[in-house]
Amino acid sequence: LVVSILELGGVKIAKDDVVRDDPTNNVPDTIFSKLGMQLHRRNQHPIGILKNAIYEYFDTNFSTKFDKFDELCPLVSVKQNFDDVLVPADHVSRSYNDTYYVDSQTVLRCHTSAHQAELLREGHTHFLVTGDVYRRDSIDSTHYPVFHQMEGFRVFSPDEWEPSGLDATSYAAEDLKKCLEGLARHLFGAVEMRWIDTYFPFTNPSFELEIYFKENWLEVLGCGVTEQEILRRNGRPDNVAWAFGLGLERLAMVLFDIPDIRLFWSNDERFISQFCSGQLGIKFKPFSKYPPCYKDMSFWINESFTENNLCEVIRGVAGDLVEEVSLIDNFTNKKGMTSHCYRIAYRSMERSLTDEEINDLQWNVREQVLNKLNVVLR
Ligand code: PHE
Repeated sequence: LVVSILELGGVKIAKDDVVRDDPTNNVPDTIFSKLGMQLHRRNQHPIGILKNAIYEYFDTNFSTKFDKFDELCPLVSVKQNFDDVLVPADHVSRSYNDTYYVDSQTVLRCHTSAHQAELLREGHTHFLVTGDVYRRDSIDSTHYPVFHQMEGFRVFSPDEWEPSGLDATSYAAEDLKKCLEGLARHLFGAVEMRWIDTYFPFTNPSFELEIYFKENWLEVLGCGVTEQEILRRNGRPDNVAWAFGLGLERLAMVLFDIPDIRLFWSNDERFISQFCSGQLGIKFKPFSKYPPCYKDMSFWINESFTENNLCEVIRGVAGDLVEEVSLIDNFTNKKGMTSHCYRIAYRSMERSLTDEEINDLQWNVREQVLNKLNVVLR
């Protein structure tokens, strides 16, 4: 019996205990193996380089120092991940379809906001939290079930907003937008950006910042003025605050011209060696333009079918060789049976795949999809 022991933030986790013993556990091996990799703490890796560049912006532009955390354990309680940031009991993000549960009370954090409450209670008023976050999702070039976020949080006291003549919320919202626009200029120079009004349970008002990239508006961060309830519960009833959570992969893809999110996990020297500590300007030169290979698969779904489950099964077989899974046909017959046809794009970032290899993969995928999802192949 091989039991791998992982030490995370001082907590030791035995892989077999975590993964096998609890029926409420939905963390597959592909995800488990990412725990503790800490790409954000490698100074030569694009994610680490970007983290350091953002640190630099906060260090040079604010008189109050931001406390920095990048080693907080990604295993958190349901309370930390959801309750503490006011996520309603029936919110979809709590579902087993969206979040990885280690057991019924413990999740792989789905955002760095999971640490807001504890850090506030510890007395921090200006802080940045960087870490790996985990979300069940479908597969394409900008989505991966593990990615990295940086949370920013800033508390204001009445003597900061009172002289402005603005109400506390407007003051914080303005300061937040100025701060993040400044950050975008620090990282990108001139770049087209826009603010979108949105909803988060933990902020009001809430905004998203989008950046124009390769003919698309790319969402790079969520932010807003912290709900007063969070401050009140954590010892700051007389303050206001703003918070943001930014996706490091999305930003790094734009900054370094990285075409596919899987590359961040590559150990290929031809990827790794292109980046240098402290250098933001480097543009990635792709070393692989190997063609993708497409395989289609049609089946009758049942009520419990979800695309996230399908993607996880496919990733379980094909790992990072799967580039995209897309629904290309969907119909319901007279008997009420629904058929889905999915197209799977296989492509390695590192080498060309042989027909034989892809056929084997597709064969295994079909078998696993049948066994694990109880669908009926057509
Ligand atoms: N936690 C949000 C997310 O993951 C981002 C966010 C952080 C939004 C802080 C508002 C404030 O998408």
